[in-house]
Amino acid sequence: MKPIKLALFASGTGSNAESIIRYFEHKSTVEVVFVLSNKVHAPIVEKATSLGVHVVVCSNQEVEDTSYLVQLCQAHQIDYIILAGFLRKIPDTLIQTYPEKIINIHPSLLPKYGGAGMYGLKVHQAVKEAGETESGITIHYVSEHFDEGQRIAQFYTTISETDSPDEIQQKIHQLERTYFPIVVEKEINRFIQ
Ligand code: GAR
Repeated sequence: MKPIKLALFASGTGSNAESIIRYFEHKSTVEVVFVLSNKVHAPIVEKATSLGVHVVVCSNQEVEDTSYLVQLCQAHQIDYIILAGFLRKIPDTLIQTYPEKIINIHPSLLPKYGGAGMYGLKVHQAVKEAGETESGITIHYVSEHFDEGQRIAQFYTTISETDSPDEIQQKIHQLERTYFPIVVEKEINRFIQ
């Protein structure tokens, strides 16, 4: 059987993209075809290259273009698009071309602390300021509205009063590394069956 083809979109450090690349590295069922980044100097660009994955760097204008991403993904026969810390809005045309095939990870328990402008450390600062005793991650399909697509899975962690936003972020990254690749694989298996 032909492997399911993934494209990973990432804008930053790329710890999630890296854990997905490593998870599927030796599995014949899935192929990570390319990593797309809208930032040429993002650490993920070098990371993916050193892991032997093709990298596509594009401009924010190209991300906003209604046909660029559709054509790119179709040209590579991509089956699933995984947003691993990708901070630009996905154009509706791509969402319509890939219904329930674009998966995002968000570092909070949505619907809390989601929406435009809520990413990375900002999320954990808001969680801290609100005095939450737990936080977590949400893995969901991408819809036309930021962080509002149907949820696939959520995972929780406790937060103590003394945890700083940085420490909350570390706990969240740990959850992401543990669960994101497994949930992606489960979704793909559902598609194959
Ligand atoms: C991750 O925590 C991810 O959940 C978050 O950005 C971080 C990227 O880290 N995504 C969002 O905030 C999306 N709204 P990484 O570059 O090390 O994977």
